[in-house]
Order: sequence, then C-alpha cells, then structure tokens
Amino acid sequence: MPVSESNQIYQEIVDALIAMHRLTDGYTPSHEDRTADLCVKIAEQLALPRDRIDVLHMAAQVHDIGKARIPLTLLNKPGRITDDEYGVLKSHVQIGYDILKKISFPFNLAEIVWCHHEYLDGSGYPRGITAESIPLEARILTVSDIVESISADRPYHKSLGMAAALDEIRRLRGTRLDPQVVDACLDVIDQNLWHEAAA
Ligand SMILES: [Fe+2]
Ligand SMILES: [Fe+2]
Repeated sequence: MPVSESNQIYQEIVDALIAMHRLTDGYTPSHEDRTADLCVKIAEQLALPRDRIDVLHMAAQVHDIGKARIPLTLLNKPGRITDDEYGVLKSHVQIGYDILKKISFPFNLAEIVWCHHEYLDGSGYPRGITAESIPLEARILTVSDIVESISADRPYHKSLGMAAALDEIRRLRGTRLDPQVVDACLDVIDQNLWHEAAA
C-alpha cells in the first residue's frame, strides 16, 4: 500500500525492521502483513482518514516485532503450552513497544502496538486497560489479528478456517471486541475484500 509522501521515511524504517525480523522468523512477518491488509480494509469500511490508515497499516506490519526475542521453538511449539511459556509469549507486546518507542514517530504507532492484546473489558494484556483507553486503531488491529491467526495456516497447525475465525469474533463482540469493528470486519469478509492465506 503506497503511503503519503510525508510518511515515506517512516514506512522505510518499518520496512527495515521487518526485513531484520524476517532473517530469523519466516512466519511472523507474513502474519503481520496479512493482518495489516485486513486492518486497512476494516479501517476503510469505517471511513477512517487516509493518514490514520497509513499509521495503522505500519503498526500492524510490526505489531509482533517483539516476538523476535522469543525462541522459535516456543513460537512454533505444537500443542499445549505451560503457564510459564504463556508468560514468555505475552512479553512480546512490551518488548515490541520498548523497541518502537525508541523511534520518534510523529504519531501513535508504538501505542497501537502496545495495545494490540488489550480488550474492551480489561481482560487483555499487558496493562489490562479498558475501552476508553484503547485507540480505535488498536481495536481494529486486535480483531484483524484474531481473524488472521485463526483463518490462516500456522507453523504448528493447519487453519481452522474462516468460519471459525468469524464465529470467534462474533462470540467476543461487545465484551472483548469493539462491536463496530467486528461488524466492519464481517462486512469486509462478506464482500470478499480480504482472503485468508491460501492453504
Ligand atoms: Fe501479538
Ligand atoms: Fe499477531
């Protein structure tokens, strides 16, 4: 997606971070890319202004950059994980935020990443903040992340399919997930504007 001229330098920084991450992890940057595409479609459905969509797109492209710190054996581990392992996995949010906030972006990219596992009802992480403290862009990223994660093949298991992904966001609509964002996402999929990765 071409960004406006004023954001070009920031897009290049983001591209460099992704290229670095791709050297060690062949899966996560692709997941981020597909999630970013879905974010754009949802944001367009919600009529967000172009400059906010640019920022959301860049944030989504690096939302899991903190996973670069987590061993691939854990990221790609099939089956159940222990509570300790879950704690390590969850640390990717704070690690990503700490990396991204070093860059003086003139917009809230780092904050969007920081909030991508927060839920409206306060049951998310790392801070457990609630609806009014979570930027709309982060709420869009959360929904996109769930849909992409469930509908695409992962390194450790086959896709559960788009129907399962949509059931999950419908189930969480209004409690954990922003109802307007969920509805916009359902419209995007309904109109065939975004497809999960080919199996
Ligand atoms: Fe994440
Ligand atoms: Fe993700």
